Amino acid sequence: MRVVSGIQPTGNLHLGNYLGAIRNWVRMQDAMEEGNRAQVAEGGSATKNECLFFLADLHAISMAHDPAELASGTLEMTAALVACGIDPDKSILFNQAQVPAHSELQWLLNGTARMGWLNRMTQFKDKSGKNREGASVALFTYPVLQAADVLLYQATHVPVGDDQKQHLELARDIAQKFNGDFCDEDAPVFTLPEPIVPPEAARIMSLRNGSAKMSKSDPSEMSRINLADDADTIMKKIKKAKTDPEALPSEKDGLDGRPEALNLVTIYAAVTGESVDDVLRQFGGEGFGAFKPALGEVLIETLAPISQRFRELKADREALDAILARGAAKARERGRDTLDATYSALGLVRG
Ligand code: TYM
Repeated sequence: MRVVSGIQPTGNLHLGNYLGAIRNWVRMQDAMEEGNRAQVAEGGSATKNECLFFLADLHAISMAHDPAELASGTLEMTAALVACGIDPDKSILFNQAQVPAHSELQWLLNGTARMGWLNRMTQFKDKSGKNREGASVALFTYPVLQAADVLLYQATHVPVGDDQKQHLELARDIAQKFNGDFCDEDAPVFTLPEPIVPPEAARIMSLRNGSAKMSKSDPSEMSRINLADDADTIMKKIKKAKTDPEALPSEKDGLDGRPEALNLVTIYAAVTGESVDDVLRQFGGEGFGAFKPALGEVLIETLAPISQRFRELKADREALDAILARGAAKARERGRDTLDATYSALGLVRG
């Protein structure tokens, strides 16, 4: 197994990123480590299943950005991931900019990706909005870089939130077309990656609007819980979260047409590891006056140790630089064979 995933180092790590993706990264990392240990204990080979997690700093330049903020955001997001449980001794943790093979492979795959495929990407439509002509070319070709990110390492599994599924399908399409166009049937260059989306928290919504996803780019801080928020801020944001005047139902069907209520119950369930039905059995018939403080409490309990570790780690710039340098060296090594095979399959002569 090769697990690969990335996150843009812009803005703060928020609850949607954590429940939708990062928590799964940590689970997969730990399960893989356990599996590797068991394999060796049973006298099996020491072939390592591996996880690679990266800061998608190259993706971040597809939108207007402040260079100093991108640099500091990259280090802060590294600290945030380690605080969440990504262990640089178990996983390869790095930023794209230190591994030129990502950009190289993107160019090579641009020959295979089709304009029509990219035209269908909903994230491009959302992010470019009414200003398509003014959007950067990078925003349009962004999903090809994302395909390069995972194909470079022969990723088998890619843990992401629901919003990234379409990009992963595109990566599979590109891999399949490239293998079909340039490789012998029994010697494909690329592995088709499988998206791993958590069923219970695939799409955490904004606290101000139950129909928009929780996002770093929402101008309202009240729309999201950041992993670095202190206890008072978390409780305040939850208490001010938009809701409706009805009490909570005792069954899931009763949340139909109530996106804000559904979102808060989903968050409670995801954080405590219960099902939505379990949560409603507990709180059915109660109003938000009782439910919101209970939700605030479970969030504070879960996030307090993470934000404590985050604050300690982010102060140590040298340690963060070292983590990224070490991860990038390993990533460059892991990607080399696939990059060479891609050049070669395309008939590009490299001396
Ligand atoms: P990004 O930085 O927007 O988000 C990182 C991860 O968090 C998930 N996520 C959410 N999940 C549930 N609810 C939400 N409200 C929510 N908001 C974000 C995202 O699905 C993602 O898994 N293009 C990617 C970064 C990327 C990447 C890759 C991911 C670049 N290359 C290769 C996987 C593989 C992005 O912008 O994610």
